[in-house]
Amino acid sequence: MFLETLAAAGKVMGEPPSQDTARALQTALVYFRQAAPKHTADEEESLFPRLRGREEAELRSALSTLDRLEKDHETVSPLHAEVERVAEMYLECGSLSASDRQAFRTAVARLQEIYREHIRVEDSTVFPLAARLLSDSDKSAIAQEMAARRKVPLLAIDDAKPSE
Ligand SMILES: [Fe+2]
Repeated sequence: MFLETLAAAGKVMGEPPSQDTARALQTALVYFRQAAPKHTADEEESLFPRLRGREEAELRSALSTLDRLEKDHETVSPLHAEVERVAEMYLECGSLSASDRQAFRTAVARLQEIYREHIRVEDSTVFPLAARLLSDSDKSAIAQEMAARRKVPLLAIDDAKPSE
């Protein structure tokens, strides 16, 4: 959703931003600045080390997939920096050179391409394996670490259900 916001902004950067465009762009920038590093830490510090510690054959063969996902986290970092640099300049100056507009659109298109495949691999391979093979205590440790990263209290599943 936030990548689409960036892609939409990339189409109007020849003109000064409307209030809606400026607000949407700022929200997307904040999202990537704050949420993307947490996602990376969730996987690289909490999930992947626990998966790498397991002995199941199924997981041994998925290890290269984890390496690839980590590589993606590295690859997107300079692309996010480029998006941020150009977007901040646009918000400040209200216009951009054709080459900066092109750089922005190229970086966003590359991010869309990388994330599409990254999310597909997470959803189709890594998360189902983790759900099936990690112990309950590993899962709850991961949940606690993720909650701590976001500074939110960890609710028990039953607490999270709406009351009737
Ligand atoms: Fe990831």
